[in-house]
Amino acid sequence: MASNIGPEFDPQSRLGGKLLAILKICQQMNSLTDLTALLDLIAREATRLMEADRATIFLLDRDKQEMWSKVALGSEEVLRFDARLGIAGAVALTGQTINVEEAHRHPQFYPGIDAQTGYHTRSLLATPLRNLEGQIIGTFEVLNKQQGPFTETDEEILRALTAQAAIAIETAQRVEELGRHRDHLLQQNTQLWREVEGRFSSQMILGASEKIQAVVRLIEQISDSSVSVLSTGESGTGKELVGKAIHYTSPRARGPFVALNCAALPESLVESELFGIEEGVATGVKRRLGKFQTAHAGTLFLDEVGDLSLTTQAKLLRVLQERVIEQVGGRKMIPVDVRILAATNKELEEEIEKGVVRQDLYYRLKVIHIRMPALREIRDDIPLLAHHFLATYCREMKKEPMKLIPQALSCLMEYPWPGNVRELENEIKRLVVSVRREAIMEEDLSEAIRRSAGRTLPAKAKSDHSLKQTVAELEKRMILDALQRSRRNQQQAATALGLSRQGLIKKMKRYGIKSAP
Ligand SMILES: Nc1ncnc2c1ncn2[C@@H]1O[C@H](COP(=O)(O)OP(=O)(O)OP(=O)(O)O)[C@@H](O)[C@H]1O
Ligand SMILES: [Mg+2]
Repeated sequence: MASNIGPEFDPQSRLGGKLLAILKICQQMNSLTDLTALLDLIAREATRLMEADRATIFLLDRDKQEMWSKVALGSEEVLRFDARLGIAGAVALTGQTINVEEAHRHPQFYPGIDAQTGYHTRSLLATPLRNLEGQIIGTFEVLNKQQGPFTETDEEILRALTAQAAIAIETAQRVEELGRHRDHLLQQNTQLWREVEGRFSSQMILGASEKIQAVVRLIEQISDSSVSVLSTGESGTGKELVGKAIHYTSPRARGPFVALNCAALPESLVESELFGIEEGVATGVKRRLGKFQTAHAGTLFLDEVGDLSLTTQAKLLRVLQERVIEQVGGRKMIPVDVRILAATNKELEEEIEKGVVRQDLYYRLKVIHIRMPALREIRDDIPLLAHHFLATYCREMKKEPMKLIPQALSCLMEYPWPGNVRELENEIKRLVVSVRREAIMEEDLSEAIRRSAGRTLPAKAKSDHSLKQTVAELEKRMILDALQRSRRNQQQAATALGLSRQGLIKKMKRYGIKSAP
C-alpha cells in the first residue's frame, strides 16, 4: 500500500525532534491570549530550540513607525526605537530575513539597543512576523548562537515558528484591544446611567409646596418595591414625570421604561400593541412584540388607562393577576416580569359608576395613589418652576441668562394655567425664543395670560372716564399689585409705592381693599 506521508519523518532525528518541539509550542501558543505571557513563551522556546542565548520579538507600531518590545528575554526592559534604525526595523520594513555572524559589522546594525540593554550582540538571525493577510506586524530575532553561526536549518525553524507566532500574537493583541474597548464602554455606560438616573430622579420633580414634597417623599418611600402606582391629575401636571422618577429610583432602573398612551390608539390596535402578535395570525402578518414584552424586567407606563375598552381591561387585569400574556392569535402563555404604572386625567371613580372602568382593575392599579396637584393649587411653586424652565431653555438655546421682571412674574402667578406645568413650560420656552431682551416684561407674555391677570392697562383712557376716575383705577391696581408682590406685607408694599404704611392703609380703605386676601 502506497504511503501518502511525504519525506520520511523521524522524530528521533535532530530536526525531527525540533519539529516535534515546534508543534508542541504551537499548541501551547494557541491556548494563550495574554500577550505578555505569549511573547515570553515564544521567546523562551525559540532560545532553547535554536541553542541561542536570547530571543526578542519586536512589534511594529505602524502609526509611529516604531519598533517596540515587551519582553527581551533576560531583561525586563521595554524597548522602543525608530523602525528605520537597526536590523529588527530593517527586517520589518523590507520583509527580508537577515542572518549575520557578526552583527556589529552589518550596515544596519544599531549599537544604541545594546547600549540600552547592556547586552553584547554577536550573531543574529531575524525574520519578519506576518499575519494571516501577509502584513508584517514585527520581527522575531534570536541572538548569539551558542556555537558558530545560525544555520539554514535554524532559519527554517524560525520561519516555521514565526508563521504560527504571528497569528497567535495578533489574536492576543486583538483580545487586549477588545478588553480595552470593553472597559471603556463599561465606564461610559456607568457614566450614562448615572446621568439618566439623575435626570429622572425624584429630585427632578420641582416644587417646595407641601403637595409636591409629599409626592417626592412617597416616591422615595416606595423606591425599593415594585408595587403598582396610579397617578392622577389634570393634563400636564407631571404624571409621566412621576412615572419616570418611580422607575429610575426603583431596582428596575436599568431595565426598560416603556410608555403607552392607551387613548392615542384605535381600539383595534390596543391589544396587539400591548400583547404583541403571533406570526401568521392572518396572511402576511409578521410576529411583533407587544409593550409587555419590550418592558420585560422594567416598567410599563400606561397613560390614560381609563380609555381602554372593557374587554381590554379584562385582559389587562388577567395579566396583572397571572403575570403571563397571550399574544394576539397566540397559543401559548408567555411569562412577563413587568411593573405597571398607570396614569389618568379622568376621575376613575366616576368612570366606575358609569360602568366604563372595571372596579377590580382600578384597585389592582392603585395600590399606591399619587394625585398630582393642578398648578393653580400650588401657585407658590410657579416662580421656582418658571425660573427653572427659563434657565434650562436659555442654556439649551445657547442664550444669555434671562430674567422675569416682577410684574411679569405676578402675571404668571395669577393666571389659572389650565394646561398646568406643561403650559407654563411652553410659555417660557416661547418667551426664550421670542424675547430679544434680557428682561421679560409683562407685555411679552401671551395675550391670555396678560388678560386673565386683569392688568392690561387701557391703551387710552376711555372717553367716558374722567381723568380722576382713570387715575383712581390705576392707583387701585398699583396697590393690589404691590400687595401681591409683597405677599400682603403692607410695610413692604407701602415702601414700594413710596407711601407711608398709614397712607397705604387709608388708600386701601378708600378702594375697599381688604387687609387679608
Ligand atoms: N413638578 C415638576 N417639576 C418639573 N417639571 C415638571 C413638573 N411637573 C411637570 N413637569 C414638566 O411638565 C411637562 C409635562 O409633564 P408630564 O408629561 O409628566 O405631564 P402629564 O401629567 O403626563 O400630562 P398629560 O396628562 O397631558 O399626559 C414635562 O415636560 C415635565 O417634565
Ligand atoms: Mg402624560
